[in-house]
Amino acid sequence: MSSDKNRVLIFDTTLRDGEQCPGATMTFEEKLEIADFLDEMGVDIIEAGFPIASEGDFEAVNAIAKRVKRATVAGLARAINADIDRAGEAVKAAQRGRIHTFVSTSPIHLAHQMRKSEAEVLDIIAATVARARNLVEDIEWSAMDATRTPIEYLCRCVETAIRAGATTINLPDTVGYATPDEYRDMFRAVRARVPDSDKAIFSVHCHDDLGLAVANSLGGLEGGARQIECTINGIGERAGNAALEEIVMAIKTRGDVLPYETGIDNRMLTRASKLVSAATSFPVQYNKAIVGRNAFAHESGIHQDGMLKNTQTYEIMTPESVGVSKTSLVMGKHSGRNAFRDKLKQLGYEISDNQLEDAFVRFKALADRKKHIYDEDIEALVDENIATREDRVKVLNLLVVAGTNGPQSAVLTLDIDGQHHTRQATGNGPVDATFNAIQQMIPHQAKLELYQVHAVTEGTDAQAEVSVRLADTEGKLVTGRAADPDTLVASAKAYIVALNKLTSARGAGDPRLHAHHGAA
Ligand code: KIV
Ligand code: ZN
Repeated sequence: MSSDKNRVLIFDTTLRDGEQCPGATMTFEEKLEIADFLDEMGVDIIEAGFPIASEGDFEAVNAIAKRVKRATVAGLARAINADIDRAGEAVKAAQRGRIHTFVSTSPIHLAHQMRKSEAEVLDIIAATVARARNLVEDIEWSAMDATRTPIEYLCRCVETAIRAGATTINLPDTVGYATPDEYRDMFRAVRARVPDSDKAIFSVHCHDDLGLAVANSLGGLEGGARQIECTINGIGERAGNAALEEIVMAIKTRGDVLPYETGIDNRMLTRASKLVSAATSFPVQYNKAIVGRNAFAHESGIHQDGMLKNTQTYEIMTPESVGVSKTSLVMGKHSGRNAFRDKLKQLGYEISDNQLEDAFVRFKALADRKKHIYDEDIEALVDENIATREDRVKVLNLLVVAGTNGPQSAVLTLDIDGQHHTRQATGNGPVDATFNAIQQMIPHQAKLELYQVHAVTEGTDAQAEVSVRLADTEGKLVTGRAADPDTLVASAKAYIVALNKLTSARGAGDPRLHAHHGAA
């Protein structure tokens, strides 16, 4: 590290602000998996959730606090005593726990949302920060809508928070309104005017409504901030938050003009992106900087010619630096177990011997059906394998009648607790028919919240990766994923993975998942 003054802390809020965006809800297990990954990748602070929001949020923050080894774990709290106490309880078990409390400071929020005067809000800041400080030592205070707050009043708020014990001061661009120069100048002004400003670390938190979140975050660093709040793939409220991978690689690639350092292992960025995309079922746009499928693709003749002569002609960073191994023909049906194990290692997977054995069997089955097997095929296969390790129900056979002359129908055979069951069903299309056949054999109340298909690689023989999200009657969400060259088989498997998850969460004897034996 060059000097501590230039060390920038990465505060990841994928599990809080990221999860807040419509449709990005993650399951408990997915949150733990992501938190473990972020910790390993070198994130300094993981904002694990908003503990007062629900029992599930509390449980997730608490479980993450207990397991994370290196990073600080933060829980969000409004400027309300109950929120602060709940956040304190959730992060108590962490090796390094933080309460992140916030209140609005802009005139428009004070008048219309808070219905409080400036003086009242100052009192609230003093009281709530002091309360949090009695619970943990590490307190972050945020001025919501800071960028639309008059600078004089913002300075008084910051001064009050620091005096009450805040150790990090976050000045968010909550509505994504600022420009980089304005944002930089705001930090400069606050740091210059507030007495004892050097007692706190200043933090940026930018939303992307005008597409400026990353540029604004870097502007904030120039103004003296040394913590960046961001999310993997830039997911978050409305247009999202600043994207972690873009910030990290901008700093790494442009050290000449951005003289900072982070503690992130940039070679893990692509996997982080895939993990979050899979958990949320939010696809990453093809041309997304750093982690998009096309981020390192060179299509035009001139570009390809330059790349062949010297990769630096059109590449400012290498794909390997973000963990992309160029798509290559990797293996075929003659590849052995050792080559498969090596390949997994190269792709960053560490799985148990049992999981490896299972994945290898699936790989062989796939290789029999698909001529070219790419890295992405193997990733899909292993992700599916991990998701299905405790199956009570398995898809054995599927025959579908599709086409212009409906009704479409499906004949599906499932293995349910070791017994084979077959049902035929019709539906509005082959997917609907397949899901109806499942419903007949496994009557359940779960509601289909999301059904999504994407091709793992290119070409008509590409595997389809299907995500199915189900919500049970209590609102618990699970996502099942499966890949297969046949889209309908992948759909049936993904649905069954999700159902298996719902039952394993409830215990094996759950009466809500049982076979109808008549049609076996
Ligand atoms: O955007 C925002 O202001 C926030 C705060 C809660 C920090 O997310
Ligand atoms: Zn935010």
